[in-house]
Amino acid sequence: MHVTIIGTGYVGLTTGLALSHVGHDVTCVDTNPDVVERLRAGTPTIVEHGLPELLRDAKDRARFQTSIPPLKGRGVVLIAVGTPTRADGDADLQYVDQAARDVAAAIAPGADLVVVNKSTVPIGSARHVAGIIERGLAELGVDARVAVASNPEFLAEGRAMHDSFYPDRIVIGADDPWAVGVLRELYAPFLEQTFEPPAATPRPERYPLPSLVTTTTTSAELTKYAANSFLATKISFINEFAGLAEHVGADVTEVARAIGLDERIGPRFLHAGIGWGGSCFGKDTRAIVATAERYDYAMPIVRAAIDVNYRQRLRMLGKLQEHLKVLRGTTIGLLGLAFKADTDDLRDAPAITLARHLAERGAVIRVHDPVAMPNARTQYPDLPVTYADDELTLASGCDALVVVTDWQQYRHLDWRALAQAMRGTIVLDARNAVRPEVVRSAGLVYAGVGR
Ligand code: UDX
Repeated sequence: MHVTIIGTGYVGLTTGLALSHVGHDVTCVDTNPDVVERLRAGTPTIVEHGLPELLRDAKDRARFQTSIPPLKGRGVVLIAVGTPTRADGDADLQYVDQAARDVAAAIAPGADLVVVNKSTVPIGSARHVAGIIERGLAELGVDARVAVASNPEFLAEGRAMHDSFYPDRIVIGADDPWAVGVLRELYAPFLEQTFEPPAATPRPERYPLPSLVTTTTTSAELTKYAANSFLATKISFINEFAGLAEHVGADVTEVARAIGLDERIGPRFLHAGIGWGGSCFGKDTRAIVATAERYDYAMPIVRAAIDVNYRQRLRMLGKLQEHLKVLRGTTIGLLGLAFKADTDDLRDAPAITLARHLAERGAVIRVHDPVAMPNARTQYPDLPVTYADDELTLASGCDALVVVTDWQQYRHLDWRALAQAMRGTIVLDARNAVRPEVVRSAGLVYAGVGR
């Protein structure tokens, strides 16, 4: 099937590579010529497990272009452009609108197209995009069959290739049964798992076939917000209990394990720490609260999840203050910048908030991250930090070290060597990622979250 994907970010690129791998004829479009050039050369533009291999394989099959090719015959267009947050908390649709106008201009007479909103878009966006395309076609006098569907993406960064090939479910929101049929055909290789798994992204053992959930466009749009709000709330919930655990002298990791074994609750997203960051949770929770407000409807649970999450970042600051008393003049080393492990993404990263607040209080900040430092240098040129090439250099002369990102390599650090390099003794494990007894046996003071 001919597939055109607009936007080569985390969603567009990983989806495009997966669709190409299973045999579709894929064209990825990005208006940024540098990005297109790098992808054509087979150079990854994002850090994702398994992506370099797929990009190499796709080189001769998938096309990367700066403009949409003529959309002829039967095909699918996936809109996967960014939807940043506006000042009022709602999603900014300028890139979606532009993509819809560009699609309309590229449609050839007689085409049979399903245009899919894959970006997280506000409720009503399918109709909005359909309107833009209809008006564009009418202006150009082009007669074509176009249906707009919503097909939200649930992939998590760092495992985006895995999630593209082996999703839990595929949600297709379409009001036109023909569009559902076309998209069912598009995703058939995933629904039936008929493809040969890529070597770098093997099929998990006992992976059950994913469910196909067909809904109205509006339900699909709301599903994405509900999924992200629920996961974000689950994390804020355990972080709220982590705070209480500290007061009453309990260990939240034990509590999380004990409640997670209840099938109705489930063990995932119950890991207490510095709180969630990333491109989705913060943006989507704020957007859905803003949407609800426009309907004069309050969403106190989601709002509380947002507040608890922000408080959690500040609580880490409070913990440092508690141990160091005066922050001014101290040197603090942050282990990790990325919003979570296995990505170089810094969007809404707790480390950035922490660094800024610490700097405001007069601390000297050093940072280390296995992959995100180049991004930090370019995206936050004014960040008042110095970069360390390795953990030992980071620790040298530090009064405190903070584990901010749950990178695997930070779980197995040589704490004795770090202790020798440090000036002070405080280790704040803001991810509950390291073993307290190992840190303590190196003569350091361990502080975790809720334990
Ligand atoms: C999320 C959703 O998982 C995904 O389905 C959606 O499409 C996009 O948003 P992502 O932001 O890539 O994906 O990362 P995720 O693994 O969900 O983690 C989000 C944040 O929550 C990270 O900062 C992570 O460190 C944090 N987190 C996650 C916790 O603090 N505790 C947990 O138990 C799980």
